[in-house]
Amino acid sequence: MIPMHFRSILFAPGNRPDMLHKAAGSAADAIMPDMEDSVRQEDKKGAREQIRQELDRLVATGKPVIPRVNSLPTGLTAEDMAAVMHEKVALVSIGKISSVEDVLEVDRLLCEAEKRAGIRVGHTGLLPWLETAKALLHPEAVLAASPRIRVCAFGADDFAADMGFVRSSDLRQTQWVKSHVAVAARATGVWVMDSPCIQFRELSLLHGEIEEARMLGFRGKFAIHPAQLNVINRGFCPHPQEVARAQAILEAWNRAPRGRGALNLEGVMVDEPLIRQCLQIVAQAERFVVK
Ligand code: COA
Ligand code: MG
Repeated sequence: MIPMHFRSILFAPGNRPDMLHKAAGSAADAIMPDMEDSVRQEDKKGAREQIRQELDRLVATGKPVIPRVNSLPTGLTAEDMAAVMHEKVALVSIGKISSVEDVLEVDRLLCEAEKRAGIRVGHTGLLPWLETAKALLHPEAVLAASPRIRVCAFGADDFAADMGFVRSSDLRQTQWVKSHVAVAARATGVWVMDSPCIQFRELSLLHGEIEEARMLGFRGKFAIHPAQLNVINRGFCPHPQEVARAQAILEAWNRAPRGRGALNLEGVMVDEPLIRQCLQIVAQAERFVVK
């Protein structure tokens, strides 16, 4: 089973073979060939066919490939899924999932597609986008609705459209829902990814979004342009000063006389919860060797 720990997932429109191949050779932890919102209505079938044709070559690069199919109300989902069933496709993504019933319907479609393709039923994991008011009221129920769900994403732009506001650069606009999604993902054991930053030339905005997302408990972020990847990959690794501080705290804890439940380290109380945080920082730093 491929690891489901992604700092960055790069979108590439399904009807752009040039971008699909550039994405596969990029620094992204995974790529998402898209059939949904980056593809116009008249190009949907072409994008599906293009992705189907490229799939063997894309998975052969060794980078996880996570195709995004069109959402349930489009009526395109079943055929999109059929096109991307593959032993080496461990996750499929779908947007605008609003309810437990939506998840069950997607699960049913996946079962059918797997049976037809001769792939073990249950093989394909799911990465749903939570981006409607309905989904964001009860994300934990949505995420717990199928064991296929291994990773999820928050979609800020569809959320803004559903709420009837224009997405601004003021991060307070979505902070509560994002926090809610991160807690729900943690409670259900799902890896949680943040929306892409659509101002892809403004890397300072991207930095700010990454810091906010990390602070709330997000583990990675989507990219729409290769120029965003290094910032995201570095941003979702613990910073060197965080690692150094965590190591210093762990050393002080290990040196402390046995039986001490709490210690004073230069005015900071060190006890079990802080030690758990430090161990996680060190483990994360080891998981992702910063490139
Ligand atoms: N994946 C792979 N390569 C990409 C890429 C992507 N997502 N975005 C840009 N590139 C490539 C371009 O093809 C170009 O390659 P070239 O120099 O060999 O011609 C290079 O990176 C520079 O691209 P640039 O000119 O800066 O951008 P652009 O104007 O060609 O494209 C976008 C800008 C936003 C249209 C494009 O990045 C894109 O389509 N992104 C994905 C959109 C998407 O999938 N959205 C759905 C989720 S929200
Ligand atoms: Mg969306």
